[in-house]
Amino acid sequence: MVAASSIAVITVGFASWAYATLQSPPAPQPQPRAVNATILPPQAVLVNSRSFAALGNNGTFRQSALTEFFNPTNTSPPFFQVFDPAFLRILGPSATVRAVAANPTFAFAHEAPIWLPSTDEVTFASNDGGALGMSDIDHNNQVSKISLKEVAAAIKAAGHGTAAVNVSVTKLDLPDTIQMTNGGTGPFNGDLILINSGRGPLPPSVALVNPSPPHNTTVLLDNFFGRQFNSLNDAKIRPGTNKIFFTDVTYGFLNHFRPLPLMPNQVYRLDPETRAVRVVADGFDRCNGIAFSRDGKTAFVSDTGLNEGFLGNNQTQPATIYAYDVDPKTEAFKNRRVFAYVDTGIADGMQLDADDNLYAGCGDGVHVWGPDGTLLGKIFLGTTSANLVFAGNQRLVIMAETTIYLAQIAAKANKLSFP
Ligand SMILES: *[C@@H]1O[C@H](CO)[C@@H](O)[C@H](O)[C@H]1NC(C)=O
Ligand SMILES: *[C@@H]1O[C@H](CO)[C@@H](O)[C@H](O)[C@H]1NC(C)=O
Ligand SMILES: *[C@@H]1O[C@H](CO)[C@@H](O)[C@H](O)[C@H]1NC(C)=O
Ligand SMILES: *[C@@H]1O[C@H](CO)[C@@H](O)[C@H](O)[C@H]1NC(C)=O
Ligand SMILES: *[C@@H]1O[C@H](CO)[C@@H](O)[C@H](O)[C@H]1NC(C)=O
Repeated sequence: MVAASSIAVITVGFASWAYATLQSPPAPQPQPRAVNATILPPQAVLVNSRSFAALGNNGTFRQSALTEFFNPTNTSPPFFQVFDPAFLRILGPSATVRAVAANPTFAFAHEAPIWLPSTDEVTFASNDGGALGMSDIDHNNQVSKISLKEVAAAIKAAGHGTAAVNVSVTKLDLPDTIQMTNGGTGPFNGDLILINSGRGPLPPSVALVNPSPPHNTTVLLDNFFGRQFNSLNDAKIRPGTNKIFFTDVTYGFLNHFRPLPLMPNQVYRLDPETRAVRVVADGFDRCNGIAFSRDGKTAFVSDTGLNEGFLGNNQTQPATIYAYDVDPKTEAFKNRRVFAYVDTGIADGMQLDADDNLYAGCGDGVHVWGPDGTLLGKIFLGTTSANLVFAGNQRLVIMAETTIYLAQIAAKANKLSFP
């Protein structure tokens, strides 16, 4: 952690730098005098909102939220883009980000990241139905894992610097009740919770999976009073009551591997004991990622309406994270309000840290907001991240389709393992 006095120094420096303006083409940024080089991580760049707030008649404006990124310093990814000094407290003085596993021809690391504390491994699922996913209506996607012990050893062997390493990826041999995994959380009583989109006529499901061989599985739910879901997407356990909340959305159909949707896109609550299921939120274009504040009182749901699968992208549709109050009795989501709208791509999977900062996988990497919805900074990858997970304190494992990144930062993890 950075000492409070150091943070105060940075804050002063940042404020004085606020009056610097960004020329076009970007001139070398004057470093804020007071920023101590040992505090600003080497991979971080400061981008003050005053430097780009008015681009002028001759300014270069972005037409696309998907293919044109916001990188006014033209820094090569991966790097930390700092919009607010509070991000430096999250990063700490020696933050690093690097690729730790990559396969350019296979989107093996899409979503469903789960950290297993007992073995220090992270499990995850490959892209289901999309580019480089090697899965479709006739072919299931793949759940795999990496070892963070192996990552640590590879980084140590590589010596100083932040060069990429490439650890082995191990496929999990799962029973065929698990079809097109897209979400995951836990562990829950030691098991993975996998959220499966289904494939063709095979039903979407919420399942418990033994993380160790033989990876035996208990399907907790695969229907709503006899009706199949559209294609389940993501889930979290709510702190306090330990109920499972999951999103259902039409992406299976929009990615050509599920039949015509027969349900609205909505958020459900499942009691893993009684298996009772109910709807807690609706009114979405396309609900997607889900997360809870540390106290379980606030729920966050992302709406990724912008991404319309085979229909294309429509940037006038939502790329928005909504916040809700969770009713203490019914656990219904109430008082919906906008938490954040993302400038690049969509906000897909979301996680919070121990200080209730919210991290989401977006079109150019991971965006990080303070609890009040201020965009503090980005872990800028120059490519899409669909999800991420803290692997304990100070380690953030980021899914980026063909690459897994590890960010070693000061932030502490939120609790995802229950009870
Ligand atoms: C940065 O701050 C640390 C801790 O306060 C101090 O030891 C170091 O000398 C400073 N470095 C520079 C370049 O000012
Ligand atoms: C904008 O471009 C026009 C035409 O090239 C030029 O005359 C003008 O000085 C420019 N304005 C600024 C503020 O650079
Ligand atoms: C990483 O290793 C895997 C084999 O384990 C290989 O398929 C892949 O191409 C390697 N990635 C890079 C970037 O070299
Ligand atoms: C896996 O099998 C063991 C032994 O029968 C059982 O105790 C455990 O509950 C099973 N796990 C799941 C997730 O079905
Ligand atoms: C994008 O969405 C808007 C709002 O629903 C709609 O009016 C427009 O026709 C859409 N554009 C395309 C190209 O589908």
